[in-house]
Amino acid sequence: MLQTKPSHRKTEGIALQKCISPSCGATYEAESVRTSCDRCGDLVDVVYDWDRGTVPTKLKDFEQFWTQRHDRLRFSGVWRFKELLPFAPDDKIVTVGEGQTLLQQAESVAQYVGMNAGQLYLQYEGMNPSGSFKDNGMCAAFTHAHMMGAKRAACASTGNTSASLAMYCAVSQLMKAVIFVGSGKIAYGKLSQALEYGALTVQIAGDFDDAMIRVKQVSDELGIYLVNSVNPFRLEGQKTIMFRVLEALQWEVPDWIVVPGGNLGNSSAFGKAFTELKELGLIDRIPRLAVINASGADTLYELYERRGVRWNGGNVDMDPIRAFYDEMDRDGAKADTIASAIEINRPVNLKKCLRALEACDGVVRQVSDQEILDAKAKVGAGGIGCEPASAASVAGAKMLRREGVIAPSDRVVCILTGHQLKDPTATVAYHTTDQAVFNDVLGSRGVQRASFANRAVALPNDLEEIIKAIRLYS
Ligand code: F0G
Repeated sequence: MLQTKPSHRKTEGIALQKCISPSCGATYEAESVRTSCDRCGDLVDVVYDWDRGTVPTKLKDFEQFWTQRHDRLRFSGVWRFKELLPFAPDDKIVTVGEGQTLLQQAESVAQYVGMNAGQLYLQYEGMNPSGSFKDNGMCAAFTHAHMMGAKRAACASTGNTSASLAMYCAVSQLMKAVIFVGSGKIAYGKLSQALEYGALTVQIAGDFDDAMIRVKQVSDELGIYLVNSVNPFRLEGQKTIMFRVLEALQWEVPDWIVVPGGNLGNSSAFGKAFTELKELGLIDRIPRLAVINASGADTLYELYERRGVRWNGGNVDMDPIRAFYDEMDRDGAKADTIASAIEINRPVNLKKCLRALEACDGVVRQVSDQEILDAKAKVGAGGIGCEPASAASVAGAKMLRREGVIAPSDRVVCILTGHQLKDPTATVAYHTTDQAVFNDVLGSRGVQRASFANRAVALPNDLEEIIKAIRLYS
């Protein structure tokens, strides 16, 4: 499944890594491994000398590649935009055909959210090979790891990153996956993937935030390539989610992008994508960005909406951030939500996300587990379905519509980040007829109702009874 064609174009020198802090701005070779700036410790970006690249002059030019689907790089929904993430020579690029996703106009969901007909779109990233948007970023980070000759790659994960890394390792046989998960903290669909794909799976007593600290230490100590979204190459791949949204809208910019926020890699990548497209003159305006936290893991909401923390041209005031983290430590506060994918209190991409919110005139909201599960049921009833964290985007859009921040006539794209089958426990508990199961999985988290449940009908094994019931219910 690997692309092994020889390189046609020299990419050396086009890409650099650069510290995001304007007051530092240190640069490093693209062909080096780092998750922070050596000089000041801030996050780093991948930046490009576009003049030396081969960027098309208009986005429509990318359509020429649709006829080249026999070429694995053009088949990939990530690499067919490789001119907009030109850091790797073709012969090093790894792909498993990621990014074959769908932008669906979802009328029943639009009605639920309160949008005019035809104005709500769902971007189904669950259609990726490992079932979540992570494959967009993983193929890019994995490609960089391969360029660097890595033999082991590691991540901490709430489940999807680990499933994606394990898949790329298994398909390519280039590296061994080492994954850190919080004990009991990841949905079964995701854990089953990591186990079956053969990853070394380390379950630590703690949650994602604890696992993240450990994986950084272990990677440093053992020289293992780290693929969490502190790795700037991950975000390069995730930019392409926005390119495909634009492509599906025939290159028209929507009014809103609504995305769940966990470690804040996606929101950061989306902001970078639109900023670069605007700089390149490929779009004339930038959509607004709404990042949606679960209320049980609402660090971004707390800092951005309540404590007024801003990117501020790169001069982020760190005092309120430190104060909030100290408060959480003092209170022993742990993230807690049914949307386990975004059960994160210390998002590693916080600063990049603040930058994206500034670039996209963004807003942040938090939604309850009740709102998430109701929105999820509506998404499922309207089509392909999603996992709980993904439905935070739809619940957030509904909230912003109710507040009047989003107008009914706006064109809104909600990102559905993960597949419905990732977390069957949450779905079955919502639709169950067994009150004990409901209470155990959902009631314990403050979920009171399953207003949109589609309950199974229990019947005796009797033909007449069965026929009677089907007449009654259908
Ligand atoms: N939705 C899903 C389904 C996710 O798996 C994640 C993150 C997010 C949303 C949040 O995205 O971090 O870019 O803000 N999952 C990570 C993981 C943390 O380990 O799989 P983000």
